[in-house]
Amino acid sequence: MAYDLKMRVWRGDAEGGELTDYTVEVSDGEVVLDALHRLQATQTGDLAIRWNCKAGKCGSCSAEVNGRPRLLCMTRLSDFDQAETITVTPMRTFPVIRDLVTDVSFNYEKAKQLPYAELGPRDADGKRRMMQVDVERGQEFRKCIECYLCQDVCHVVRDHEDNKQHFAGPRFFIRYAELDMHPLDTHDRRKLAQDAAGLGMCNITKCCTEVCPEGIHITDNGIIPMKERVVDRKYDPLVWLGNKIGLR
Ligand code: SF4
Ligand code: F3S
Ligand code: FES
Repeated sequence: MAYDLKMRVWRGDAEGGELTDYTVEVSDGEVVLDALHRLQATQTGDLAIRWNCKAGKCGSCSAEVNGRPRLLCMTRLSDFDQAETITVTPMRTFPVIRDLVTDVSFNYEKAKQLPYAELGPRDADGKRRMMQVDVERGQEFRKCIECYLCQDVCHVVRDHEDNKQHFAGPRFFIRYAELDMHPLDTHDRRKLAQDAAGLGMCNITKCCTEVCPEGIHITDNGIIPMKERVVDRKYDPLVWLGNKIGLR
């Protein structure tokens, strides 16, 4: 059934902007991205929105709906009262380029700092083998679509711009955890996760887990076990001795 939806959309650029009110005809089976596309088509041809798959799989259409980080293409209008005004704003943690499009290159810089797996020696026949159970352990983390909603909601960088330099954020903590679970990897990421990626700055608020559209248990299955492994390393007497005599 069609109805008139009231929307407030943030319009502006890096210099500043403001919320602008619109009314647009929608159907109750549509999503917020449909409403924005209709706005573009009928009233605001210059409205900037990043999107691609419209199926919740490319991670492009991240923004905030009524202040909550959401994928615009997966947020159904039927989740809201028809009389409600829906407010759409860009992700707050990243600099605005224009309207709802933000510059997420912070994340690409953090990705570059993360070393890939260093594989151990091959078996005698020249092959490498992994047990299926070990492969599956990191599978949950490989579902990440890099929407960066978890990065957007994390208060460590959302409220403290200065922390960005020292904090990789939840998306990359699960990448560290995934690589740390790689059955053939010889690289020890625990020190790197703690010192370079700022794992210790995470105080386990779990907001990242709450907004993940892939339902990844970022905190319980990624961050907390990684923190436990870092602590094990720190209190391992051999590691302590190695640090003292400069071997590690
Ligand atoms: Fe998005 Fe979830 Fe990946 Fe974070 S972990 S970037 S919320 S899919
Ligand atoms: Fe941030 Fe998630 Fe930790 S929201 S504080 S990374 S639990
Ligand atoms: Fe691809 Fe929304 S357009 S996730």
